[in-house]
Amino acid sequence: MKVSRLIITGTVALAVAGALNAMPAAADNVRPAEQSLRGLAQRHGLQIGTAVDMAALADTADPQYRATVASQFSTVTAENVMKWEVLEPTRGTYNWAPADELIAFAQRNRQSVRGHVLVWHNQLPGWLTAGVADGSISDTELRVILRDHITAVVKHFKGKIWQWDVVNEAVSDPWDSPPAIHYKGFWAQHLGDGYIADAFRWARAADAKALLFYNDYNIEVFGSGNAADDKTQFVYEMVKRLRETGVPIDGVGSQGHLGTQYGNYDTFQVSDALRRFTDLGLATAFTEVDVRSQMTAGVQAGDSNEINPRLQASAGNFGILLQACLSNRHCLSFTVWGFTDRHSWVPTWFTNPPEGLATLYDEAYQPKRALGIVKAELAFSGAPYVLPRIPQKPRR
Ligand code: XIL
Repeated sequence: MKVSRLIITGTVALAVAGALNAMPAAADNVRPAEQSLRGLAQRHGLQIGTAVDMAALADTADPQYRATVASQFSTVTAENVMKWEVLEPTRGTYNWAPADELIAFAQRNRQSVRGHVLVWHNQLPGWLTAGVADGSISDTELRVILRDHITAVVKHFKGKIWQWDVVNEAVSDPWDSPPAIHYKGFWAQHLGDGYIADAFRWARAADAKALLFYNDYNIEVFGSGNAADDKTQFVYEMVKRLRETGVPIDGVGSQGHLGTQYGNYDTFQVSDALRRFTDLGLATAFTEVDVRSQMTAGVQAGDSNEINPRLQASAGNFGILLQACLSNRHCLSFTVWGFTDRHSWVPTWFTNPPEGLATLYDEAYQPKRALGIVKAELAFSGAPYVLPRIPQKPRR
């Protein structure tokens, strides 16, 4: 063999060895159950995230919260502090500090940040909703206020946000009135559905590099395929139209709030849905995953006959969403909406009947079945069906 050939072969061997070394899960001897979520996800190029409650993060009496956010996750989302009511409680006066604190935390821990949320009908400041209600803010002025809000917020965080949830939950559910799926809520009522395209354009004008997402729940799978009764189809047609008309939308976020009392899905249904969205040239992400259960009297009394099947079903659903995400190279991140039952929005929001048990760790930060399934899924999946993520290029 010629010397030059030898050198090339040697270089290839070195490169392969280098690549293997870069695979943390395969390279060290720590059992998958003992590895961190972020370490296990890295091999897939998948960002694994959580919503962060800033009060819990600051609570020195609860150090485990902060430690877990830092050690287990590679991306974070503000559970509340980037919402309009927190950012601009008084008209014209911005309260950036809590969100800036999260960004600083993320930078210290080498985490990316999902920005949540620019346009939503909930958690709006009182001055805005009251002004619109009493007529002192006209619809024309409202549109300008929205444009200025998006511009100010996106500019403030420019360069620090990986994905923005630009528009959140703009589409109705089949149980709403009227039942035909439609654009719902405050913004559509006052501005018509054109605010959606506007919001993406304004966000893009303020940050050329962030990935811009539409985010919603109950869009994990397709139903009848008829947009009049199938929310996923309605959202699909909406984002397809946005792409076709050149609106700078880069992704669809599927929140992934599931409940074990429902029929739920299998992995193939979910991966089919992701594929339909990514075939449009969009990225996807699971943005707010949790799988809650009804807290029956038996559950509350600690009856394991009632608790165990719920924990198992919850774990199964986490696994299904994650597996579907892993199966699609354009599914960029998997974010849970809180990681411990100690700090979860579920018990405060779902009270009739009471629900809970929705996250990966119990109230004492002990791992639940769901955490085991998620780790195993990350550890024991790979080629040929699970391949590294393909980064999304922001659309101009
Ligand atoms: C929830 C928060 O978790 C709660 O703390 C808050 O009181 C209400 O909002 N969909 C979303 C999230 O997009 O912003 C919501 O977060 C949960 C549902």
